[in-house]
Amino acid sequence: MAEPTRTAKLTIDDKVIELPIQSGSIGPDVLDIRKLYGQADVFTFDPGFTSTAACESAITYIDGDKGELLHRGYPIDQLAEKSHYLEVCYLLLYGELPTAVQLSDFVGRVTRHTMLHEQIHNFFRGFRRDAHPMATMVGVVGALSAFYHDSTDINDAWHREVSAIRMIAKLPTIAAMAYKYSIGQPFVYPKNSLSYAGNFLHMCFAVPAEDYVVNPILEKAMDRIMMLHADHEQNASTSTVRLAGSSGANPFACIAAGIACLWGPAHGGANQACLEMLREIGTVDRIPEFIARAKDKNDPFRLMGFGHRVYKNFDPRAKVMKESADEVLGLLGIENNPTLQVAKELERIALSDPYFVEKKLYPNVDFYSGIILDAMGFPTSMFTPIFALSRTVGWISQWKEMIDDPTQKIGRPRQLYTGPQRRDYPDMRHR
Ligand code: CMC
Repeated sequence: MAEPTRTAKLTIDDKVIELPIQSGSIGPDVLDIRKLYGQADVFTFDPGFTSTAACESAITYIDGDKGELLHRGYPIDQLAEKSHYLEVCYLLLYGELPTAVQLSDFVGRVTRHTMLHEQIHNFFRGFRRDAHPMATMVGVVGALSAFYHDSTDINDAWHREVSAIRMIAKLPTIAAMAYKYSIGQPFVYPKNSLSYAGNFLHMCFAVPAEDYVVNPILEKAMDRIMMLHADHEQNASTSTVRLAGSSGANPFACIAAGIACLWGPAHGGANQACLEMLREIGTVDRIPEFIARAKDKNDPFRLMGFGHRVYKNFDPRAKVMKESADEVLGLLGIENNPTLQVAKELERIALSDPYFVEKKLYPNVDFYSGIILDAMGFPTSMFTPIFALSRTVGWISQWKEMIDDPTQKIGRPRQLYTGPQRRDYPDMRHR
């Protein structure tokens, strides 16, 4: 961070406090309030962090008004068109696009770590058969620190590197095993001759009794879904990973915390909730009923897949996802999929409805991803696990950046206390 050249003045009663204004490479400047409490004995109040930059980061940039998403400066639509998931993983982790040699070395390293310690299989079997795959993933990823002791020392750069590669490599295996377990099929071991996306499809859909050939259309679509979910700045789950990591917790525990946060329907769980909503709507003629419910202040219902804290324009990931949905469904010959018809009409109506227009509620990444995953044969319960395995690289990159940041401290927000003031403990008979 460069030395600040401007300051802001804050007047509290008759005291004037000068706050440095810091500038990034792009995006809004930030008021540096780190010394505010010491100088003025006040905290700032910002539930939900709507106006708070919690860290310095050089990984991902979002311009919510323009609807722009950059990874290390590269626009997501260019990456989606020209790159592939593992190359984007390299970019996020190391800051630059790889040369051919660097890429092949990285792909080789990830590929050699796709298997899980065999004893982890026993761990899966302890879950109830009907467990949600996200529940299984939170548990199994957290448990990795009990298996890979040689990569849990956060102060050792090599440990950090190995744990990063291990998690990028093993998350698809864990997600696929969670799925196989939930449907009562045998686990399928990774096949390292396949691509990252192809291997994931293989582990989900192959069975020992038959040969499974990865469909290249679905492989490409899977890779693109992974790429579009790879990182997204300081969202709730990434901030959770950073907060967990700020205490010095090991990387496997931090990623398990991120997965737990992602599960919520306001965040990664929205893809499952969205497809279930589209199915519940069922036919185009029922859309007005659901739009009315979304607008009703007394109804907690929200249109899933719409709205975003940062985007006040089209989510650029949703644009690419929509193209992919058209492509995949067209190539699979199911373009008349009723869910897609409902989604398209819902989008059209919502984008012209004053409520959604005024509040700048546009479709987000979760609006179309479920339609593609459904067409591929995934049950809705697997949508969020796929988001989680794709986001792992973003979480890890942000966690590594935080550990390397010399200004990093344990995350410890304060509060505006509104509870009772000091009072004496009464005996039971006086309550
Ligand atoms: N349907 C109906 N109304 C909505 C919606 C929606 N999907 N989203 C926001 N609003 C309204 C909200 O009621 C509020 O109205 P008012 O100002 O009258 O009180 C206004 O828009 C602002 O909403 P907010 O909840 O204050 O905004 P937020 O930034 O805190 O929430 C959000 C962002 C994504 C949680 C929210 O838009 C939402 O719940 N969307 C549906 C769930 C969803 O699709 N989540 C995926 C997000 S993208 C992927 C990811 O992050 O994982």
